[in-house]
Amino acid sequence: MRKLNLKKQWDQATPSWVDFVRTGKDYHRDELNNPTMFEILGNISGKKILDLGCGEGYNARIMAKKGAKVWGVDFSKKMIDFAIQKEKKDKLGIVYHPADAYNLKMFKNNTIDIVVCFMALQDIRDYQKAIKEAYRVLLKSGRFLFSIPHPCFETTEKQNYKRKLKDKLKEEMIHFKVKDYFNAHSYTVPWKMKRLTQHFETTSFHRTLTHYVDALRDAKFLISRVKEPKPSKKGIRKHPIMKLHLIIPQSVVVEAVKL
Ligand SMILES: C[S@@+](CC[C@H](N)C(=O)[O-])C[C@H]1O[C@@H](n2cnc3c(N)ncnc32)[C@H](O)[C@@H]1O
Repeated sequence: MRKLNLKKQWDQATPSWVDFVRTGKDYHRDELNNPTMFEILGNISGKKILDLGCGEGYNARIMAKKGAKVWGVDFSKKMIDFAIQKEKKDKLGIVYHPADAYNLKMFKNNTIDIVVCFMALQDIRDYQKAIKEAYRVLLKSGRFLFSIPHPCFETTEKQNYKRKLKDKLKEEMIHFKVKDYFNAHSYTVPWKMKRLTQHFETTSFHRTLTHYVDALRDAKFLISRVKEPKPSKKGIRKHPIMKLHLIIPQSVVVEAVKL
């Protein structure tokens, strides 16, 4: 199989992604996934946090504003450039590194309180190595917290149904075509929403829940929490299409602890 240049895809996506995230167009983040991630994170004041696959730094900035010392790592140099530009403008003490999530050589063993990975593990080719690196840099009892698109419902077909659902939520239209669940494979994510300033494509990796649990276990993590986020009433009022996720989860959030 042709080896895709994943880094180039994300570099090309960056300007459109930055607008998407920074102008509130990524409502699944703001109204669905972040509330659950931050609820589980709890009080992070004074904590040392590493944001793996940090993108342009949106969530890193939220964590820094909550009093954490934050480092961000992303393999897209373009994403990191945008993150650094923002840091220079509004200083929060965040340190960014353009690096692969599975090569965190700039971090010593046993130094970080929490490693977070917001909606990026599914895009990381060698997720097992990345999980092992997260384990290595964490302090004993440190936590690894990540969100991923729910592996049972992340098929592209659902996007067509979502489009049909725009005006009215018709239950009979909610069909998720699950193809080849047990087979780990890569797939193209077509970012074609009208909300984007420019359309782009990225590559994600479908893995089963078992794959993720096994990788955590192999790294010696113990899973402490699993949540399937639901939208808030406020979120649904603002974006009625999100009603869908009262019935079918969009994502899954996992917390694991280094023993
Ligand atoms: C869907 S975006 C999420 C970005 C960010 N976590 C957020 O919530 O805004 C996925 C990110 O993972 C990064 N990524 C993909 N593979 C990576 C790897 N091997 N190492 C580091 N970052 C990676 C991409 O560059 C992209 O910024």
